[in-house]
Amino acid sequence: SAAEKGGYDYFMLKEIAEQPKAVADTLLGRIDGSGSLTLDEVRIPPGVLREIDKVVIVACGTAFHAGMIAKYAIEHWTRLPCEVELASEFRYRDPILDAQTLVIAISQSGETMDTLMALRHAREQGSKVLAICNTNGSTIPRESDAVLYTHAGPEVAVASTKAFLTQLVACYLVALYLGQVRGTKWGDEIRAVIRDLSSIAGAVERVLGTMEPVRELARTLASKKTVLFLGRHVGYPVALEGALKLKELAYMHAEGFAAGELKHGPIALIEEDLPVVVVVPSPRGRSVLHDKIVSNIQEIRARGARTIVIAEEGDEAVVPYADHLVRIPATPTLLQPLVATVPLQVFACELATARGNEVDQPRNLAKSVTVE
Ligand code: G6P
Repeated sequence: SAAEKGGYDYFMLKEIAEQPKAVADTLLGRIDGSGSLTLDEVRIPPGVLREIDKVVIVACGTAFHAGMIAKYAIEHWTRLPCEVELASEFRYRDPILDAQTLVIAISQSGETMDTLMALRHAREQGSKVLAICNTNGSTIPRESDAVLYTHAGPEVAVASTKAFLTQLVACYLVALYLGQVRGTKWGDEIRAVIRDLSSIAGAVERVLGTMEPVRELARTLASKKTVLFLGRHVGYPVALEGALKLKELAYMHAEGFAAGELKHGPIALIEEDLPVVVVVPSPRGRSVLHDKIVSNIQEIRARGARTIVIAEEGDEAVVPYADHLVRIPATPTLLQPLVATVPLQVFACELATARGNEVDQPRNLAKSVTVE
């Protein structure tokens, strides 16, 4: 009913708008007054976490994209090797797992059969399993050694939005916690990131307040057949998520690429007026990546692409090559997906609406897939 949707036309719009609160709720009570993490729910003893020598993340769909981003954070902050794999592929290749492996299963519903089968396989090999889940008491957390709940609240729209942002927050918390427990040379950086996380809900709110031009742009693209998405580093999974949202909601052909791969194939797809969304890393931090992606934008624009550029406030280098410029607040490099994903959600939702699609219940999809 209209009341359940809180005055919004669709649950998806309501859930997009709820993201600042969802993010804040997922952080609530998990950072103490001294700026350290207190993840009491992670009932895997610190002694065991110190012995871990590898992390493996399993998930499906949007949760898999959260896992891809988590890999960058975990490897950077903990120096533990981290693999991320589609749950549906995982157990069938006979993965190497033992008691020193920490498996992280990410699932909004906690009922996805592919993810459940992957974690059962991991536990049979003696690995510890930590679930990141949004649904209290669901099967995946019940069968795991520990669970860190995301506090997004119920997510009704099939296409995941607020659950995704909270999965990212939970992944950062786990990465930082592992760093804290194990002690790394990034101690100062970890403390700084914990501080930055505390203000990130406000950054998400700011993005939401500037989305009208993105909606207008989406409406002008309603008759397009294809949209490409490019990103690098943590912007690469964001590009994949932007493409997935368009497939799910707008039923359009959409693909995400790692921008560095452009020259190895995808650039052949570029043609006159093809919309290409580019997620630009911060010019601060890893500035080499930033400069490379600016060259990519130049290259595709020279070949006729219509460039839709998502870049940090104050990034002036992109301005000459952006047909459409979407600004996001400056964040630390690894946290950028929390703000960069939001315009892509709004973009897909508006395109779906413009194409007359059912936003909350896309054809052929289910909110939770309980068959393998
Ligand atoms: C389904 C949904 C996707 C979701 C995926 C994983 O395919 O349509 O939106 O990302 O399942 O769901 P989970 O509940 O495990 O996060």
